[in-house]
Amino acid sequence: MEFNTKIALPETFKADCVAVGVFDEGGLTPSARRIDGITRGALRAALASGDISGARGTSLLLRAVPGVASSRVLLVGLGKPDEFGDRAYADAVRTAVRNAGSGSASLAIAASEWRVKGRDPRWHASALVVAAREVPFRSDELKTKKEDNATRLARIHLLLDKRDAAVDKGLAEGRAIANGADLAKRLGNLPANICTPDYLGQQARKLQRDWGIGVQVLDRRQIEALRMGAFLSVTKGSDQPPRLIVAKYQGASRGRFTDPIALVGKGITFDTGGISIKPAAEMDEMKFDMCGAASVLGALRAAAELKLKVNVLGVIPTCENMPSGRATKPGDIVTSMSGQTVEVLNTDAEGRLILCDALTYVQRFKPSAVVDIATLTGAIIVSLGNVHSGLFSPDDELAAELMEAASRASDRAWRMPVDDDYQDQLKSNFADMANIGIRGNAGSIVAACFLARFTKGMRWAHLDVAGTAFRGGGAKGATGRPVPLLTHFLLARAGA
Ligand code: BES
Ligand code: MN
Ligand code: ZN
Repeated sequence: MEFNTKIALPETFKADCVAVGVFDEGGLTPSARRIDGITRGALRAALASGDISGARGTSLLLRAVPGVASSRVLLVGLGKPDEFGDRAYADAVRTAVRNAGSGSASLAIAASEWRVKGRDPRWHASALVVAAREVPFRSDELKTKKEDNATRLARIHLLLDKRDAAVDKGLAEGRAIANGADLAKRLGNLPANICTPDYLGQQARKLQRDWGIGVQVLDRRQIEALRMGAFLSVTKGSDQPPRLIVAKYQGASRGRFTDPIALVGKGITFDTGGISIKPAAEMDEMKFDMCGAASVLGALRAAAELKLKVNVLGVIPTCENMPSGRATKPGDIVTSMSGQTVEVLNTDAEGRLILCDALTYVQRFKPSAVVDIATLTGAIIVSLGNVHSGLFSPDDELAAELMEAASRASDRAWRMPVDDDYQDQLKSNFADMANIGIRGNAGSIVAACFLARFTKGMRWAHLDVAGTAFRGGGAKGATGRPVPLLTHFLLARAGA
Protein backbone atom coordinates (compact mmCIF):
# COMPACT_ATOMS: atom_id res chain seq x y z
CA MET A 1 0.00 0.00 0.00
CA GLU A 2 1.44 3.33 -1.12
CA PHE A 3 0.86 6.75 0.32
CA ASN A 4 1.46 10.12 -1.28
CA THR A 5 0.34 13.74 -1.14
CA LYS A 6 -1.52 15.66 -3.83
CA ILE A 7 -2.32 19.34 -4.03
CA ALA A 8 -6.00 18.99 -4.86
CA LEU A 9 -9.56 19.44 -3.67
CA PRO A 10 -11.65 16.47 -2.53
CA GLU A 11 -14.32 17.06 -5.17
CA THR A 12 -12.00 17.56 -8.18
CA PHE A 13 -9.29 14.97 -7.50
CA LYS A 14 -10.02 11.80 -9.41
CA ALA A 15 -9.57 8.64 -7.38
CA ASP A 16 -11.62 5.45 -7.22
CA CYS A 17 -12.98 6.69 -3.91
CA VAL A 18 -12.84 9.83 -1.81
CA ALA A 19 -13.50 9.46 1.91
CA VAL A 20 -15.11 12.21 3.97
CA GLY A 21 -16.13 12.33 7.60
CA VAL A 22 -19.51 12.75 9.24
CA PHE A 23 -19.97 13.17 12.95
CA ASP A 24 -22.62 11.68 15.16
CA GLU A 25 -25.55 14.10 15.36
CA GLY A 26 -24.98 15.35 11.83
CA GLY A 27 -21.79 17.45 11.85
CA LEU A 28 -19.75 17.39 8.64
CA THR A 29 -15.99 17.72 8.25
CA PRO A 30 -14.69 20.46 5.90
CA SER A 31 -14.46 18.27 2.78
CA ALA A 32 -17.81 16.65 3.56
CA ARG A 33 -19.27 20.15 3.71
CA ARG A 34 -17.73 21.00 0.31
CA ILE A 35 -19.14 17.89 -1.34
CA ASP A 36 -22.48 18.41 0.36
CA GLY A 37 -22.56 21.94 -1.07
CA ILE A 38 -21.70 20.81 -4.60
CA THR A 39 -24.31 18.06 -4.53
CA ARG A 40 -26.96 20.36 -3.01
CA GLY A 41 -27.20 18.43 0.21
CA ALA A 42 -26.61 14.81 -0.88
CA LEU A 43 -24.58 14.05 2.24
CA ARG A 44 -27.02 15.65 4.65
CA ALA A 45 -29.77 13.75 2.87
CA ALA A 46 -27.89 10.48 3.38
CA LEU A 47 -27.60 11.27 7.08
CA ALA A 48 -31.27 12.28 7.29
CA SER A 49 -32.29 9.03 5.57
CA GLY A 50 -30.84 7.05 8.45
CA ASP A 51 -28.54 5.07 6.14
CA ILE A 52 -25.58 6.31 8.21
CA SER A 53 -25.68 7.66 11.73
CA GLY A 54 -22.22 9.14 11.99
CA ALA A 55 -21.46 6.80 14.89
CA ARG A 56 -17.91 5.47 15.12
CA GLY A 57 -17.28 2.55 12.80
CA THR A 58 -20.23 3.22 10.49
CA SER A 59 -19.81 4.04 6.80
CA LEU A 60 -21.85 4.52 3.65
CA LEU A 61 -20.56 4.15 0.10
CA LEU A 62 -22.20 6.38 -2.53
CA ARG A 63 -21.54 5.78 -6.24
CA ALA A 64 -21.37 8.29 -9.09
CA VAL A 65 -22.07 11.38 -7.04
CA PRO A 66 -22.69 14.25 -9.51
CA GLY A 67 -20.03 16.95 -9.41
CA VAL A 68 -17.47 14.73 -7.69
CA ALA A 69 -14.57 13.52 -9.84
CA SER A 70 -13.96 10.30 -7.90
CA SER A 71 -16.16 7.31 -8.74
CA ARG A 72 -17.26 6.86 -5.16
CA VAL A 73 -17.77 8.93 -2.05
CA LEU A 74 -17.36 7.10 1.24
CA LEU A 75 -18.97 8.65 4.29
CA VAL A 76 -17.12 7.62 7.42
CA GLY A 77 -18.77 7.92 10.82
CA LEU A 78 -16.45 9.65 13.28
CA GLY A 79 -18.54 9.54 16.45
CA LYS A 80 -18.94 12.56 18.72
CA PRO A 81 -16.68 15.52 17.86
CA ASP A 82 -15.49 15.99 21.44
CA GLU A 83 -14.64 12.29 21.75
CA PHE A 84 -12.55 12.29 18.57
CA GLY A 85 -9.11 11.26 19.80
CA ASP A 86 -6.23 9.02 18.66
CA ARG A 87 -8.24 5.81 18.70
CA ALA A 88 -11.27 7.25 16.91
CA TYR A 89 -8.93 8.64 14.25
CA ALA A 90 -7.27 5.26 13.69
CA ASP A 91 -10.72 3.63 13.62
CA ALA A 92 -11.88 6.12 10.98
CA VAL A 93 -8.84 5.39 8.81
CA ARG A 94 -9.34 1.64 9.10
CA THR A 95 -13.06 2.00 8.34
CA ALA A 96 -12.23 4.05 5.26
CA VAL A 97 -9.69 1.51 3.98
CA ARG A 98 -12.03 -1.41 4.63
CA ASN A 99 -15.06 0.16 3.00
CA ALA A 100 -13.63 2.14 0.07
CA GLY A 101 -15.34 -0.35 -2.24
CA SER A 102 -14.05 -3.72 -3.36
CA GLY A 103 -13.43 -2.29 -6.84
CA SER A 104 -11.33 0.61 -5.57
CA ALA A 105 -7.58 0.65 -6.00
CA SER A 106 -7.09 4.27 -4.94
CA LEU A 107 -8.52 6.30 -2.09
CA ALA A 108 -8.29 10.04 -1.53
CA ILE A 109 -8.61 11.69 1.87
CA ALA A 110 -8.28 15.39 2.56
CA ALA A 111 -5.36 15.84 4.94
CA SER A 112 -7.25 18.55 6.80
CA GLU A 113 -9.99 16.07 7.67
CA TRP A 114 -10.43 14.22 10.91
CA ARG A 115 -8.29 16.48 13.04
CA VAL A 116 -7.46 15.20 16.51
CA LYS A 117 -7.11 18.10 18.91
CA GLY A 118 -3.52 18.74 20.00
CA ARG A 119 -2.02 16.66 17.18
CA ASP A 120 -0.05 18.22 14.31
CA PRO A 121 -0.13 17.39 10.57
CA ARG A 122 2.97 15.20 10.85
CA TRP A 123 1.28 13.08 13.53
CA HIS A 124 -1.89 12.76 11.47
CA ALA A 125 0.02 11.58 8.40
CA SER A 126 2.08 9.06 10.37
CA ALA A 127 -0.88 7.69 12.31
CA LEU A 128 -2.89 7.39 9.09
CA VAL A 129 -0.26 5.15 7.47
CA VAL A 130 0.09 2.95 10.56
CA ALA A 131 -3.68 2.49 10.89
CA ALA A 132 -4.28 1.95 7.16
CA ARG A 133 -1.52 -0.66 6.92
CA GLU A 134 -3.14 -2.76 9.65
CA VAL A 135 -6.08 -3.59 7.40
CA PRO A 136 -4.35 -5.64 4.67
CA PHE A 137 -1.88 -7.39 7.00
CA ARG A 138 -2.20 -11.18 6.76
CA SER A 139 -0.19 -14.07 8.17
CA ASP A 140 -0.84 -16.54 5.38
CA GLU A 141 2.66 -17.52 4.32
CA LEU A 142 2.02 -21.01 5.69
CA LYS A 143 -1.43 -21.36 4.13
CA THR A 144 -1.53 -23.12 0.77
CA LYS A 145 -4.60 -21.06 -0.21
CA LYS A 146 -4.00 -17.36 0.38
CA GLU A 147 -6.77 -15.43 2.11
CA ASP A 148 -8.78 -12.89 0.20
CA ASN A 149 -7.46 -9.48 1.03
CA ALA A 150 -9.99 -7.29 2.78
CA THR A 151 -8.99 -4.53 0.37
CA ARG A 152 -7.60 -4.11 -3.12
CA LEU A 153 -6.48 -0.62 -2.20
CA ALA A 154 -3.00 0.01 -3.50
CA ARG A 155 -2.75 3.81 -3.13
CA ILE A 156 -3.88 6.38 -0.63
CA HIS A 157 -3.63 10.05 -1.63
CA LEU A 158 -3.57 12.69 1.08
CA LEU A 159 -5.07 15.85 -0.38
CA LEU A 160 -3.51 19.17 0.64
CA ASP A 161 -4.06 22.78 -0.33
CA LYS A 162 -0.32 23.45 -0.33
CA ARG A 163 2.93 21.50 -0.01
CA ASP A 164 3.72 20.58 3.57
CA ALA A 165 7.08 18.98 4.37
CA ALA A 166 5.75 17.90 7.77
CA VAL A 167 3.12 15.72 6.13
CA ASP A 168 5.73 14.02 3.93
CA LYS A 169 7.86 13.45 7.01
CA GLY A 170 4.86 11.94 8.78
CA LEU A 171 4.16 9.60 5.86
CA ALA A 172 7.77 8.38 5.90
CA GLU A 173 7.60 7.80 9.66
CA GLY A 174 4.34 5.94 9.32
CA ARG A 175 5.77 3.71 6.60
CA ALA A 176 8.86 2.87 8.66
CA ILE A 177 6.77 2.12 11.75
CA ALA A 178 4.33 -0.04 9.78
CA ASN A 179 7.20 -1.93 8.12
CA GLY A 180 8.85 -2.50 11.49
CA ALA A 181 5.58 -3.58 13.09
CA ASP A 182 4.83 -5.93 10.17
CA LEU A 183 8.24 -7.57 10.64
CA ALA A 184 7.52 -8.01 14.36
CA LYS A 185 4.06 -9.43 13.62
CA ARG A 186 5.36 -11.83 11.01
CA LEU A 187 8.10 -13.19 13.29
CA GLY A 188 5.72 -13.31 16.26
CA ASN A 189 3.14 -15.30 14.34
CA LEU A 190 5.58 -17.86 12.95
CA PRO A 191 5.43 -21.15 14.86
CA ALA A 192 8.30 -22.24 17.07
CA ASN A 193 9.28 -25.10 14.76
CA ILE A 194 10.14 -22.50 12.12
CA CYS A 195 10.99 -19.43 14.18
CA THR A 196 13.85 -21.00 16.15
CA PRO A 197 16.74 -19.10 17.78
CA ASP A 198 18.81 -19.79 14.67
CA TYR A 199 16.00 -18.47 12.45
CA LEU A 200 15.90 -15.23 14.45
CA GLY A 201 19.65 -14.96 13.93
CA GLN A 202 19.14 -15.36 10.19
CA GLN A 203 16.44 -12.69 10.23
CA ALA A 204 18.90 -10.33 11.93
CA ARG A 205 21.45 -11.14 9.22
CA LYS A 206 18.82 -10.25 6.64
CA LEU A 207 18.59 -6.81 8.30
CA GLN A 208 22.33 -6.55 7.71
CA ARG A 209 21.97 -7.38 4.01
CA ASP A 210 18.93 -5.16 3.44
CA TRP A 211 19.67 -2.23 5.73
CA GLY A 212 23.38 -2.27 6.48
CA ILE A 213 22.84 -2.94 10.18
CA GLY A 214 25.94 -4.60 11.64
CA VAL A 215 24.98 -8.03 12.94
CA GLN A 216 26.86 -10.66 14.92
CA VAL A 217 25.17 -13.89 15.93
CA LEU A 218 26.97 -15.62 18.79
CA ASP A 219 26.62 -19.38 19.19
CA ARG A 220 26.65 -21.55 22.30
CA ARG A 221 30.44 -21.66 22.56
CA GLN A 222 30.67 -17.88 22.40
CA ILE A 223 27.85 -17.52 24.94
CA GLU A 224 29.74 -19.90 27.20
CA ALA A 225 32.91 -17.85 26.76
CA LEU A 226 30.97 -14.83 28.00
CA ARG A 227 30.02 -16.90 31.08
CA MET A 228 26.33 -16.25 30.67
CA GLY A 229 25.35 -18.94 33.19
CA ALA A 230 21.81 -17.65 33.73
CA PHE A 231 21.02 -17.55 29.99
CA LEU A 232 22.61 -20.96 29.43
CA SER A 233 20.61 -22.53 32.28
CA VAL A 234 17.41 -21.83 30.32
CA THR A 235 18.72 -23.48 27.13
CA LYS A 236 19.73 -26.75 28.79
CA GLY A 237 16.54 -28.73 28.13
CA SER A 238 16.33 -27.78 24.47
CA ASP A 239 17.78 -29.40 21.37
CA GLN A 240 17.68 -26.05 19.57
CA PRO A 241 21.00 -24.24 19.97
CA PRO A 242 20.78 -20.80 21.62
CA ARG A 243 21.88 -17.59 19.96
CA LEU A 244 22.93 -14.17 21.20
CA ILE A 245 22.12 -11.64 18.49
CA VAL A 246 24.06 -8.38 18.60
CA ALA A 247 22.92 -5.78 16.06
CA LYS A 248 24.39 -2.32 15.60
CA TYR A 249 22.62 0.41 13.70
CA GLN A 250 25.09 3.26 13.40
CA GLY A 251 23.27 6.46 12.47
CA ALA A 252 25.36 8.92 14.50
CA SER A 253 29.12 9.50 14.81
CA ARG A 254 31.04 8.32 11.76
CA GLY A 255 33.56 5.61 12.45
CA ARG A 256 32.94 4.68 16.03
CA PHE A 257 29.89 3.12 17.61
CA THR A 258 29.51 5.36 20.68
CA ASP A 259 26.72 6.13 23.19
CA PRO A 260 24.21 3.76 21.68
CA ILE A 261 20.66 3.38 22.88
CA ALA A 262 20.47 -0.29 23.78
CA LEU A 263 17.32 -2.30 23.10
CA VAL A 264 17.30 -5.73 24.71
CA GLY A 265 14.58 -8.14 23.61
CA LYS A 266 13.41 -11.38 25.20
CA GLY A 267 13.69 -14.07 22.54
CA ILE A 268 12.18 -17.23 24.02
CA THR A 269 11.02 -18.93 20.82
CA PHE A 270 8.89 -21.30 22.87
CA ASP A 271 8.18 -21.26 26.60
CA THR A 272 6.91 -24.58 27.91
CA GLY A 273 7.86 -23.47 31.41
CA GLY A 274 10.61 -26.09 31.51
CA ILE A 275 10.47 -28.54 34.44
CA SER A 276 8.02 -26.09 36.10
CA ILE A 277 5.85 -26.95 33.12
CA LYS A 278 2.87 -24.89 32.07
CA PRO A 279 -0.65 -26.33 31.75
CA ALA A 280 -1.61 -27.54 28.25
CA ALA A 281 -4.40 -25.02 27.61
CA GLU A 282 -3.25 -22.20 25.35
CA MET A 283 0.37 -23.28 25.58
CA ASP A 284 0.63 -22.67 21.82
CA GLU A 285 0.56 -18.94 22.64
CA MET A 286 4.01 -19.31 24.15
CA LYS A 287 5.39 -19.16 20.61
CA PHE A 288 4.81 -15.41 21.12
CA ASP A 289 7.40 -15.35 23.92
CA MET A 290 9.91 -13.88 21.45
CA CYS A 291 7.79 -10.80 20.68
CA GLY A 292 10.19 -8.57 22.63
CA ALA A 293 13.02 -9.77 20.37
CA ALA A 294 10.86 -9.22 17.29
CA SER A 295 10.09 -5.66 18.39
CA VAL A 296 13.82 -4.94 18.70
CA LEU A 297 14.36 -6.12 15.11
CA GLY A 298 11.34 -4.09 13.99
CA ALA A 299 12.57 -0.93 15.69
CA LEU A 300 16.07 -1.39 14.24
CA ARG A 301 14.58 -1.73 10.78
CA ALA A 302 12.50 1.43 11.30
CA ALA A 303 15.54 3.38 12.57
CA ALA A 304 17.53 2.31 9.51
CA GLU A 305 14.72 3.11 7.09
CA LEU A 306 14.40 6.59 8.63
CA LYS A 307 18.19 7.02 8.67
CA LEU A 308 17.91 8.27 12.25
CA LYS A 309 21.00 10.08 13.48
CA VAL A 310 21.42 7.92 16.52
CA ASN A 311 23.27 4.71 17.34
CA VAL A 312 21.12 1.78 18.32
CA LEU A 313 22.37 -1.47 19.82
CA GLY A 314 19.98 -4.41 19.65
CA VAL A 315 20.78 -7.37 21.88
CA ILE A 316 18.64 -10.48 21.75
CA PRO A 317 19.23 -13.55 23.89
CA THR A 318 17.20 -16.28 22.24
CA CYS A 319 16.52 -19.92 23.10
CA GLU A 320 13.75 -22.37 23.90
CA ASN A 321 12.58 -23.19 27.43
CA MET A 322 12.00 -26.96 27.42
CA PRO A 323 11.83 -29.79 29.96
CA SER A 324 14.20 -32.74 29.52
CA GLY A 325 16.59 -34.97 31.41
CA ARG A 326 19.20 -32.29 30.98
CA ALA A 327 16.97 -29.34 31.87
CA THR A 328 17.54 -27.00 34.79
CA LYS A 329 15.65 -28.17 37.87
CA PRO A 330 13.85 -26.08 40.52
CA GLY A 331 16.42 -25.29 43.19
CA ASP A 332 19.38 -25.34 40.84
CA ILE A 333 21.78 -22.46 41.43
CA VAL A 334 23.41 -20.75 38.46
CA THR A 335 26.05 -18.05 38.15
CA SER A 336 25.07 -15.10 35.98
CA MET A 337 27.55 -13.22 33.79
CA SER A 338 27.60 -10.48 36.45
CA GLY A 339 28.93 -13.01 38.97
CA GLN A 340 25.74 -12.89 41.03
CA THR A 341 24.27 -16.32 41.76
CA VAL A 342 20.61 -17.14 41.23
CA GLU A 343 18.52 -19.91 42.75
CA VAL A 344 16.09 -21.03 40.04
CA LEU A 345 13.04 -21.78 42.15
CA ASN A 346 10.77 -21.81 39.12
CA THR A 347 12.08 -22.66 35.66
CA ASP A 348 9.09 -20.84 34.16
CA ALA A 349 10.52 -17.51 35.31
CA GLU A 350 13.07 -17.87 32.50
CA GLY A 351 12.76 -14.49 30.77
CA ARG A 352 14.57 -12.68 33.55
CA LEU A 353 17.35 -15.31 33.42
CA ILE A 354 18.16 -14.68 29.78
CA LEU A 355 17.66 -10.92 30.09
CA CYS A 356 19.88 -10.46 33.14
CA ASP A 357 22.92 -11.72 31.23
CA ALA A 358 22.02 -9.64 28.18
CA LEU A 359 21.77 -6.56 30.44
CA THR A 360 25.19 -7.31 31.89
CA TYR A 361 26.54 -7.75 28.36
CA VAL A 362 25.31 -4.32 27.14
CA GLN A 363 27.26 -2.57 29.95
CA ARG A 364 30.45 -2.81 27.81
CA PHE A 365 28.91 -0.55 25.15
CA LYS A 366 28.34 2.25 27.70
CA PRO A 367 24.82 2.87 26.40
CA SER A 368 23.16 6.26 26.98
CA ALA A 369 20.01 4.32 27.87
CA VAL A 370 18.89 0.70 27.94
CA VAL A 371 15.33 -0.42 27.32
CA ASP A 372 14.45 -4.08 27.60
CA ILE A 373 11.28 -5.41 26.04
CA ALA A 374 9.81 -8.68 27.22
CA THR A 375 6.67 -10.78 27.41
CA LEU A 376 7.85 -11.24 30.97
CA THR A 377 4.92 -11.93 33.29
CA GLY A 378 1.34 -13.13 33.23
CA ALA A 379 0.84 -10.77 36.17
CA ILE A 380 1.10 -7.70 33.93
CA ILE A 381 -2.01 -8.97 32.13
CA VAL A 382 -3.79 -9.07 35.50
CA SER A 383 -2.78 -5.43 36.11
CA LEU A 384 -3.09 -3.80 32.70
CA GLY A 385 -4.88 -6.28 30.43
CA ASN A 386 -4.26 -5.88 26.72
CA VAL A 387 -4.32 -2.08 26.68
CA HIS A 388 -1.18 -0.69 28.29
CA SER A 389 2.32 -2.10 28.29
CA GLY A 390 3.89 -1.98 31.75
CA LEU A 391 6.71 0.55 31.96
CA PHE A 392 9.18 0.11 34.79
CA SER A 393 12.10 2.43 35.48
CA PRO A 394 13.77 4.00 38.49
CA ASP A 395 14.78 6.84 36.13
CA ASP A 396 12.02 9.51 36.02
CA GLU A 397 13.46 11.27 32.98
CA LEU A 398 13.80 8.11 30.91
CA ALA A 399 10.33 7.00 32.00
CA ALA A 400 8.92 10.38 30.92
CA GLU A 401 10.62 10.08 27.52
CA LEU A 402 9.12 6.64 27.01
CA MET A 403 5.67 7.78 28.16
CA GLU A 404 5.86 10.66 25.69
CA ALA A 405 6.88 8.25 22.91
CA ALA A 406 3.98 5.98 23.87
CA SER A 407 1.58 8.89 23.61
CA ARG A 408 2.85 10.07 20.23
CA ALA A 409 2.75 6.51 18.92
CA SER A 410 -0.72 5.83 20.37
CA ASP A 411 1.01 2.71 21.71
CA ARG A 412 -0.01 3.04 25.29
CA ALA A 413 2.14 2.35 28.35
CA TRP A 414 1.48 2.76 32.04
CA ARG A 415 4.21 3.44 34.55
CA MET A 416 4.55 0.87 37.30
CA PRO A 417 6.62 1.14 40.49
CA VAL A 418 10.01 -0.53 41.03
CA ASP A 419 10.57 0.48 44.65
CA ASP A 420 13.29 -1.41 46.49
CA ASP A 421 10.74 -2.64 49.03
CA TYR A 422 9.76 -5.35 46.54
CA GLN A 423 13.36 -6.60 46.40
CA ASP A 424 12.87 -8.46 49.71
CA GLN A 425 10.83 -11.07 47.90
CA LEU A 426 13.90 -12.20 45.96
CA LYS A 427 15.84 -13.25 49.05
CA SER A 428 17.28 -16.75 48.80
CA ASN A 429 18.69 -18.91 51.60
CA PHE A 430 21.27 -20.43 49.27
CA ALA A 431 22.18 -17.93 46.54
CA ASP A 432 22.46 -14.18 46.04
CA MET A 433 18.84 -14.12 44.93
CA ALA A 434 15.92 -16.29 43.90
CA ASN A 435 14.34 -15.94 40.47
CA ILE A 436 10.78 -15.61 41.82
CA GLY A 437 9.00 -13.90 44.71
CA ILE A 438 5.76 -14.71 46.49
CA ARG A 439 2.98 -16.16 44.32
CA GLY A 440 0.23 -13.66 43.56
CA ASN A 441 2.20 -10.79 45.04
CA ALA A 442 3.20 -8.05 42.56
CA GLY A 443 4.77 -10.54 40.17
CA SER A 444 5.51 -8.01 37.41
CA ILE A 445 7.18 -5.60 39.79
CA VAL A 446 9.26 -8.31 41.42
CA ALA A 447 10.38 -9.43 37.94
CA ALA A 448 11.40 -5.84 37.15
CA CYS A 449 13.25 -5.67 40.49
CA PHE A 450 15.16 -8.80 39.52
CA LEU A 451 16.28 -7.17 36.27
CA ALA A 452 17.19 -3.95 38.10
CA ARG A 453 19.95 -5.85 39.89
CA PHE A 454 21.78 -6.19 36.58
CA THR A 455 21.57 -2.57 35.44
CA LYS A 456 23.93 -0.83 37.87
CA GLY A 457 25.33 2.38 36.43
CA MET A 458 23.04 2.40 33.40
CA ARG A 459 19.91 4.40 32.66
CA TRP A 460 17.42 1.60 32.30
CA ALA A 461 13.76 0.97 31.63
CA HIS A 462 11.80 -2.23 31.18
CA LEU A 463 8.65 -2.77 29.12
CA ASP A 464 6.53 -5.78 30.06
CA VAL A 465 4.52 -6.46 26.91
CA ALA A 466 2.99 -9.85 27.83
CA GLY A 467 -0.48 -8.31 27.49
CA THR A 468 0.10 -6.09 24.47
CA ALA A 469 2.51 -7.80 22.06
CA PHE A 470 -0.03 -10.41 21.01
CA ARG A 471 -3.69 -11.28 21.31
CA GLY A 472 -5.04 -14.67 22.25
CA GLY A 473 -8.40 -16.24 21.47
CA GLY A 474 -10.22 -15.65 18.19
CA ALA A 475 -8.10 -12.70 17.09
CA LYS A 476 -4.94 -14.61 17.93
CA GLY A 477 -1.84 -12.96 16.57
CA ALA A 478 1.08 -10.66 17.20
CA THR A 479 0.21 -6.95 17.31
CA GLY A 480 3.59 -5.46 16.37
CA ARG A 481 3.65 -3.58 19.66
CA PRO A 482 5.71 -1.89 21.01
CA VAL A 483 7.48 -1.11 17.69
CA PRO A 484 5.60 2.23 17.35
CA LEU A 485 6.56 3.27 20.89
CA LEU A 486 10.21 2.29 20.40
CA THR A 487 10.45 4.02 17.04
CA HIS A 488 9.05 7.25 18.46
CA PHE A 489 11.50 6.99 21.34
CA LEU A 490 14.38 6.67 18.85
CA LEU A 491 12.95 9.51 16.71
CA ALA A 492 12.92 11.82 19.71
CA ARG A 493 16.41 10.76 20.78
CA ALA A 494 17.65 11.44 17.26
CA GLY A 495 16.11 14.92 17.44
CA ALA A 496 14.16 14.09 14.27
N1 BES B 1 6.40 -15.99 29.11
C1 BES B 1 5.81 -16.00 30.39
C2 BES B 1 4.93 -14.80 30.66
C3 BES B 1 3.67 -14.72 29.86
C4 BES B 1 2.49 -15.23 30.34
C5 BES B 1 3.67 -14.09 28.64
C6 BES B 1 1.34 -15.14 29.60
C7 BES B 1 2.53 -14.00 27.90
C8 BES B 1 1.35 -14.51 28.39
C9 BES B 1 6.91 -16.01 31.46
O1 BES B 1 8.08 -16.65 31.11
C10 BES B 1 6.36 -16.74 32.63
O2 BES B 1 6.08 -17.90 32.52
N2 BES B 1 6.21 -16.04 33.76
C11 BES B 1 5.69 -16.61 34.92
C12 BES B 1 6.51 -16.11 36.09
C13 BES B 1 6.22 -16.81 37.39
C14 BES B 1 6.68 -18.24 37.32
C15 BES B 1 6.95 -16.06 38.48
C16 BES B 1 4.23 -16.18 35.07
O3 BES B 1 3.90 -15.06 34.70
O4 BES B 1 3.43 -16.99 35.49
MN1 MN C 1 8.00 -18.74 31.47
ZN1 ZN D 1 8.48 -16.72 29.08
